[in-house]
Amino acid sequence: MTKRRKILVTSALPYANNSLHIGHLVEYIQTDIWVRFQRMQGHECIYVCASDAHGTPTMLRAEELNTPPEILIKKVSKEHRQDFITFNISVDNYLNTHATENRELTELIYDRLLSGGYIIRRTIKQAYDEHRKMFLPDRYVRGQCPNCQTPDQYGDSCENCGATYTPIELKNPISVISGTAPTVRESEHFFFRLQKFESELRAWVPAHVDAAIAHKLEEWFEVGLRDWDISRDEPYFGFEIPGNPGKYFYVWFDATIGYMASFLNLCRQSELDFDTFWEKESEAELYHFIGKDIVYFHTLFWPSVLSGANYRKPTGIFVHGFLTVDGKKMSKSRGTFITAKTFAKHLDPDFLRYYYAGKLGPNADDIDLNLEDFLARVNSDLVGKLINIASRCAGFIHKLNNGKMAADLMNGKLFSEFSEAGNEICTNYEKRNYAQNIRIIMALADLANQYIDEQKPWIKAKQPDEYKKVIGICSLGLNFFRLLVIYLKPVLPSLTERVETFLNVKPLIWEDTKSPLLDHTIEPFKSLMQRIESDQIEAIVTESLNQLPADQ
Ligand code: MSP
Ligand code: ZN
Repeated sequence: MTKRRKILVTSALPYANNSLHIGHLVEYIQTDIWVRFQRMQGHECIYVCASDAHGTPTMLRAEELNTPPEILIKKVSKEHRQDFITFNISVDNYLNTHATENRELTELIYDRLLSGGYIIRRTIKQAYDEHRKMFLPDRYVRGQCPNCQTPDQYGDSCENCGATYTPIELKNPISVISGTAPTVRESEHFFFRLQKFESELRAWVPAHVDAAIAHKLEEWFEVGLRDWDISRDEPYFGFEIPGNPGKYFYVWFDATIGYMASFLNLCRQSELDFDTFWEKESEAELYHFIGKDIVYFHTLFWPSVLSGANYRKPTGIFVHGFLTVDGKKMSKSRGTFITAKTFAKHLDPDFLRYYYAGKLGPNADDIDLNLEDFLARVNSDLVGKLINIASRCAGFIHKLNNGKMAADLMNGKLFSEFSEAGNEICTNYEKRNYAQNIRIIMALADLANQYIDEQKPWIKAKQPDEYKKVIGICSLGLNFFRLLVIYLKPVLPSLTERVETFLNVKPLIWEDTKSPLLDHTIEPFKSLMQRIESDQIEAIVTESLNQLPADQ
């Protein structure tokens, strides 16, 4: 046995002001497959997540709904947690960042950064909505680009010429919230001195992110690291900065700390030890799965904050790309902005897990969910190839031998071929090369079906003196099936459970690939998976058409 690793894994925390959609699920499924794989290897792998509760959008959404933000985030966070359960995302803990553990840790980390000399105060000018009596985040101001004069651009960058600027540089600015022209006001903000970590980051980056991401970071280093504004003025939904009434921690400051908080909350309900995973000299591994839009926060700010507060840094940041549906951005008017809930209402979540696995590699390329291809793939691979192996073999074992499999392997060499493929499959899972695994596994499924085709058990079963052979062939077929299901278990947890019942075995682990099932009685074969029908997909799209947040 290899050494039992201690691994802590996180996915990015979804905002608590909206429902989860199939784009988020790319990340949660990618993470969950990796986590389940590690656990099947016998490693200790803890997976935590939470809903990201704070910030202006949550505050405004709560106002719109006429609810206190505390109530809104509880409700949404509960829905997120339910979606995780529905999609078999096996988190060990799911918190929200407004929790006491997060307040404690955020204050502690802030204190350490302050005494380490990593925080400075500076007065800045910002757009202010006199009507709503609040400072406006960049995205809440629109106006004419100061560079190319295109109207109706966001406060941080121009969609036409790509120029970046601050909202107070916009011409004819308008507050998105009240529709009035903002004024400019001054206020004192707290900044985290990112620059102090530049050399440490430059040394850390290459070994902890993929090459393409390291390359991107190189560009950011070239531009120069700027101090990070970590405070916001009231009104704001967040944690107030101790000793500074009216000043709040910026949502992104406490969001990443939310990873630690969710873990701390878990420690308080279990035997797990917080320091073992987070102390500076920790030997535990720490991985964050994130989308490509939040790389800056996780590869520059977060490791620096951890280091400044005397904690360990991550072992790896795993970055994935964005989801498109039928080649385009998800869209409410095309019915492709599909929530987790709508999908699961019509189709088995394992289908989406399988399709994403078939598309996901270790890089941050965008992935496309083509709905036609999705139907064809799932039906042909899972129902047509995989399940087909079991349904062709099980009947004969029951009819000719009371459900008992043969005592010997009909073809040991072929079994070894299937079993040895496990090594490469392991390596691919570890490296997040799931797409490659799906190709390997389906090629093996083809091989298994080909074996059965050649052996023709249905013809042999007509002659009693061939019965033993038929049992041998079908038992080998079922052993192939069992290995393929073990290989797919991280991807297809629900199907695997049904197969475990059918095969009458304990929960399958990776070690099980080493030895075949012999002289073993199985349960009667029941349908393990239904084909996708095109009207199910149509129903999902129809239901998603122009769905408003309130209906989700
Ligand atoms: N709250 C922040 C993350 C804080 S982590 C300390 C946030 N939330 S989010 O809800 O916008 O996104 C959560 C994760 O889902 C991010 O990693 C993001 O990249 C990912 N995705 C959101 N939409 C996505 C797609 N359409 N496609 C793939 N991933 C997507 O960012
Ligand atoms: Zn412009």
